[in-house]
Amino acid sequence: MTQRQTEQVLEVKDLTVRFPIRGVFGRQDGAIKALDGVTFELHHGEILGLVGESGCGKSTLGKTLMGIQKPTAGSIQLDGKEIAGRTPKEARALRRRLQYAYQDPGASLDPRWKIGRSLEEPLIIHANLPREERLQKVTEILQAVGLPAGHADLFPHEISGGQQRRVGLARILMLNPEVVILDEPTAGLDVSVQATVLRLFADLRETFDLTYIFISHDLSVVRLMCHRVAVMYLGRIVEIGPVDEIMNAPKHPYTQSLLAAIPKVNGIRVTENFWLEGEPADAAHLPKGCRFQGRCPHVQPLCREQDPPDRTVGAQSAACHFAGEIYPPVPKQRENA
Ligand SMILES: Nc1ncnc2c1ncn2[C@@H]1O[C@H](COP(=O)(O)OP(=O)(O)O)[C@@H](O)[C@H]1O
Ligand SMILES: [Mg+2]
Repeated sequence: MTQRQTEQVLEVKDLTVRFPIRGVFGRQDGAIKALDGVTFELHHGEILGLVGESGCGKSTLGKTLMGIQKPTAGSIQLDGKEIAGRTPKEARALRRRLQYAYQDPGASLDPRWKIGRSLEEPLIIHANLPREERLQKVTEILQAVGLPAGHADLFPHEISGGQQRRVGLARILMLNPEVVILDEPTAGLDVSVQATVLRLFADLRETFDLTYIFISHDLSVVRLMCHRVAVMYLGRIVEIGPVDEIMNAPKHPYTQSLLAAIPKVNGIRVTENFWLEGEPADAAHLPKGCRFQGRCPHVQPLCREQDPPDRTVGAQSAACHFAGEIYPPVPKQRENA
């Protein structure tokens, strides 16, 4: 880690987002806890992976950090400055420093506008630059993301999915952000295109001195790209730590299950009898105690009583009463092997 990587850019504490459920006649009938006390720090220049099953709150976290979604409670500090309760005017200035790249970049581009116009747009809104300079910047950024300047004159439907990702990224880079939240940035791309897009992210991080939150459900991509990983389950970060530690010695039974579910070399899984069974609990009706109790192979009476605190084990932190005391099953040795 370099000196700058120890600098904290973002500090998130107890971030909570509840979506009200409307019953008959529009009356509120409970709430979905999309985020339930999310706490973590982000350091300058790092890539923090955010993983977890669909619906666990990854996109909600990204949108809340960006200010698109209002938090119900909690604190977000950017360089020590509270931004959770910002006014629209403050939000506009801050939005330049923190950017959220949507899961589907095609959706963030106006199909009626040429790409150059879409790229220029954030500068028209946010910066007071003469047209000449805006166009100059469009050309520069297109080149930075590996597209010819001539692409400015094309429409979104005239380019491929991989090129749309690059344009989506270019649009964000127009504003010189410090932190970029990439939401499933390679979803839906061919494996070969994925590799080049991932390399582009790595290069751009160097060139533009960026910090990433990298949302993905693909653990093999996270292992390749990220310095640290946060594992989310039903609105909470249940485990966080350096990527190697998390991948080699997961401390939370949910992380252990996720890793066990990755197909291994030759399609043989190294662990047996340790499947992630069933569905997550209902985010509108979390059980008393641990949110993972219904699927946990190690569940104890305590887990049905108390929501576990975050326990520190080495460089990791895991929200499990028994973190550091439970292990995934040892791979069965094949006899006569
Ligand atoms: N605008 C919304 N209104 C109501 N519920 C929502 C909204 N956005 C997300 N949710 C719910 O919040 C939970 C988390 O969703 P999301 O953050 O999209 O998860 P992920 O990105 O991990 O798949 C889900 O239960 C989802 O249905
Ligand atoms: Mg999502």
